[in-house]
Amino acid sequence: MADFLDIRGLTKHFGGILAVEDLSLSVAQGTVLGIIGPNGAGKTTVFNLITGVYPPSEGELLLEGQSLAGLPPHTIVQRGVARTFQNIRLFRNLTVRQNIVTALDLRQKPYSLAQALLCNPPFVESPVKAGERALRERAMTYLELVGIEAQADRRADNLPYGLQRKLELARALALEPKLLLLDEPAAGMNPDESMELCALIRSIQRQLSLTVLVIEHHMDLVMELCDRLCVLSFGKKLAEGTPAEIQSDPAVLKAYLGEGWVRA
Ligand SMILES: Nc1ncnc2c1ncn2[C@@H]1O[C@H](COP(=O)(O)OP(=O)(O)OP(=O)(O)O)[C@@H](O)[C@H]1O
Ligand SMILES: [Mg+2]
Repeated sequence: MADFLDIRGLTKHFGGILAVEDLSLSVAQGTVLGIIGPNGAGKTTVFNLITGVYPPSEGELLLEGQSLAGLPPHTIVQRGVARTFQNIRLFRNLTVRQNIVTALDLRQKPYSLAQALLCNPPFVESPVKAGERALRERAMTYLELVGIEAQADRRADNLPYGLQRKLELARALALEPKLLLLDEPAAGMNPDESMELCALIRSIQRQLSLTVLVIEHHMDLVMELCDRLCVLSFGKKLAEGTPAEIQSDPAVLKAYLGEGWVRA
């Protein structure tokens, strides 16, 4: 039987650059897979292929047995895939809450244009207003999930960096994904902040029984958070296994972790 996510022989060329080469990987439902490896190894490209930013040059991507390869990004969102970005991509001049509402809007239209134009009695709440209120309330539940509900009315670009990262996570969760892709969620965080984020991701992942793929360079977070790891180097899979197996793999130590790597 196919796994929840099955990547088979995935290859991506950019002109002469082979960013991902013949990658095969299976991810079981409800597990966390870490993708690690040196800069330029092809990690983000794997996410761009899964989310439809680029079509694969070759290979297959199956989510619950159904092909994602070549589908446009919005269809892939509807199939249950959401992501965060290596470089934060928020609507900087909207409030924290409005950033979540945009994601909710992508999934559902709670009222039609006809309702908006035709129904507006002066003393009853219009379907438009009721729809907007419901969206605002739903947005709060995602802010609560990541613990930034007190910031709801601040402008996104006024948030401290660590909270902007949490807002991006909340916005991805608002798309109600089955598969969540996190591209360096702890980038720019200190070790304490990154371990706090690790605990938050784990708790949300369990609560929502999500399948998570996470790219990270913070090794303590990766080893703590992930059930399995895949190591990429020059676009190819160098190793795959449990964190304990990967930490003691001589090829991984040589190519990425370094001989002197020890867990803090
Ligand atoms: N759109 C693109 N056009 C051309 N080359 C690209 C494109 N996207 C990625 N690449 C190249 O593909 C290779 C893999 O890049 P990718 O961003 O996937 O690496 P990464 O493992 O995420 O690295 P990092 O840890 O620095 O984020 C690099 O050589 C990169 O320059
Ligand atoms: Mg990257």
